[in-house]
Amino acid sequence: MDHADLIEEIMALKRQRNAVILAHSYQRPEIQDIADFVGDSLALARHAKQAECDVIAFCGVRFMAETACILNPTRTVLLPDAEAHCSLEASCPAEELADFLKKNHEKNYYVIAYINCSIGVKALADVIVTSGNAHIIVAHAPQDRPILFVPDSNLGAWCARRTGRAITLWNGACHVHRLFTRDHILRAKKEHPEAEVVCHPECEEVVRLLADHICSTEKMIDYCRESGAKSFIIATEVGILHRLRKLVPGKEFIPVQLGQCSCAECEFMKLNTIEKLRNCLRDMTPRVEVSEELRLRALQPLQRMLEFSH
Ligand code: 13P
Ligand code: SF4
Repeated sequence: MDHADLIEEIMALKRQRNAVILAHSYQRPEIQDIADFVGDSLALARHAKQAECDVIAFCGVRFMAETACILNPTRTVLLPDAEAHCSLEASCPAEELADFLKKNHEKNYYVIAYINCSIGVKALADVIVTSGNAHIIVAHAPQDRPILFVPDSNLGAWCARRTGRAITLWNGACHVHRLFTRDHILRAKKEHPEAEVVCHPECEEVVRLLADHICSTEKMIDYCRESGAKSFIIATEVGILHRLRKLVPGKEFIPVQLGQCSCAECEFMKLNTIEKLRNCLRDMTPRVEVSEELRLRALQPLQRMLEFSH
């Protein structure tokens, strides 16, 4: 079957199932191009909450599809590849967090959880954040309670620096953003001295210190559009370059080279393919389902986040 036939089949299945296709900016270009909406975790959560359809085909990783289930429980949520996980989520198992909170009960931590975590971790949190709103929510955290930030130590440290708040950091990180080193950035800057460096807050501090701007994937688009610069070195998963080139024409986007011809790719995000998207809409599987008890507990901190970020 050629690509055009496959696209036509997906469109027909979408109508038949009354489905919407949501995709994260790290998805393969052909998935982004067919999606009804492409965005960062925050925009995807908002869209999932409002989706008026029977089925959400979520082209992203599991925690994003789970978030859709939490916010819009009457929809069927499909994830094209059931193995699309996230290393950051894996770095904070819910049982370990529960154990830590129990052992440190007297501290009465205000738990801020980055959305890249399991529903079990969300259920233990006071509030959820994304890379797009984390610093604002941290700044508004209660002054009379110590903050525990899970699971991303890099995003947490960036928020601490931006807000001046003391934060206890969980020792988690994203294996993709960890790949960028000071040397990679310095080499890219040497090769493209005119370019600005834009990085995701999941990058290590040595990389963040070399960046002209640090922001979520969504804000990268606004920043590059509005900046006077004509070229940008982008330190995040390479999938965002497709969106940047589409939405900000006339400017140059340079992925940070990690080796001779390799860029930073999230293998979990890339597990979803256009064929698997067709298959999930055709077979109505793999589905993402969550327990109602956990859903109700995770809903509160998620709603708190959405109220903050109008
Ligand atoms: P954004 O919310 O900025 O899209 O980040 C999600 C993510 O998984 C980054 O690795
Ligand atoms: Fe998770 Fe990192 Fe992949 Fe984002 S890039 S989904 S944080 S593993």
